[in-house]
Amino acid sequence: MSKQFPQAVRAMLCGFMFMFAAAVQAESVNNAAKLPNVTILATGGTIAGTGATSTTTVGYTAATVGVQSLIAAVPEIAKVANVTGEQVFQIASENIGDAQWLQLAKRVNVLLAQPNVDGIVITHGTDTLEETAYFLHLVVKSKKPVVLVGSMRPSTALSADGPINLYNAVRLAGTPEAAGRGVLVAMNDQIHSARDVTKANTTTTDTFRTSELGVIGYIQGGKPFFYRNVVRNHTLDTEFDVTKLDGLPQVDVAYAYANVGDVAVNALVAAGARGLVHAGVGNGSLPARTKPALVKARKDGVVVVRASRVGQGIVARNGEANDDALDFVVADTLSPQKARILLMLALTKTTSTREIQRMFYTY
Ligand code: DGL
Repeated sequence: MSKQFPQAVRAMLCGFMFMFAAAVQAESVNNAAKLPNVTILATGGTIAGTGATSTTTVGYTAATVGVQSLIAAVPEIAKVANVTGEQVFQIASENIGDAQWLQLAKRVNVLLAQPNVDGIVITHGTDTLEETAYFLHLVVKSKKPVVLVGSMRPSTALSADGPINLYNAVRLAGTPEAAGRGVLVAMNDQIHSARDVTKANTTTTDTFRTSELGVIGYIQGGKPFFYRNVVRNHTLDTEFDVTKLDGLPQVDVAYAYANVGDVAVNALVAAGARGLVHAGVGNGSLPARTKPALVKARKDGVVVVRASRVGQGIVARNGEANDDALDFVVADTLSPQKARILLMLALTKTTSTREIQRMFYTY
């Protein structure tokens, strides 16, 4: 056997190894091509929070962990989606305001217009997550999935819920079946519509509830399952456009309770509110000591919306007040904080109470 034999074998083995490496590379490229492209926009909150010990589930610091660390903490995500991360801002969600909403909405619309983006996940503090979700529900101009997610325990805690919530949210945002359903909230293995979900417990991981109208689906074993849709307009079917907006009209909420007077209403109007949501008791009832201030506010051009602090049900037009005569608007089933968002956007289009009431029956 010539001395060249080992060389020939070596050459053949090198050839096989090269072909194998090329095949593996091609396979991984092929797999990546099959996976959805999901962008994670991080904004802060507890999901990015850290505590002093593994049992610190209250008294931790929110908004400390960056988006790349959030992604790195869940390596399983890379098997189900091609993920890119952007740190849009890093704050606790009680501090999120109009500027952050507009910045986030504009970024979402730019990204979703790109053909190589299949869906978006937004990591967010849970305190105002429902508000950001509803704002985006009314201004995102795409059918592609937008999923908001947070956590109730910081990333350092025993049984932190952030990693599994983030994994589920990425799965949901990468699922074609999630398209066209409006902005979604994925928490605790449940899928909620942005329109009706609310934070219902101060600290437990099952805090997000859509108690009477119900969840729209579940995520089980990483796979989303849908059972219903919201029927009110959203995303592509809304008349609202934030593209040219660099601010939002001032709209405030006045809360009703036993023995309430008119101090809050008068102060909010004096501070420049262009719209006022009254979080009434029961079916949006107006306490006798508050009503004159609301009537005057309307006469002074402030748009008044009757909502309810109750949490479920329809605030009936001309029920607890003669809305036709007072020229008030009713909030339908929207919570006071979400009625405020719709009224803010409505006021970017019109001051007609007739038109605004139509909007509350449309969205
Ligand atoms: N500061 C709260 C927030 O950023 C923490 C609550 C949470 O994110 O779960 O919303």
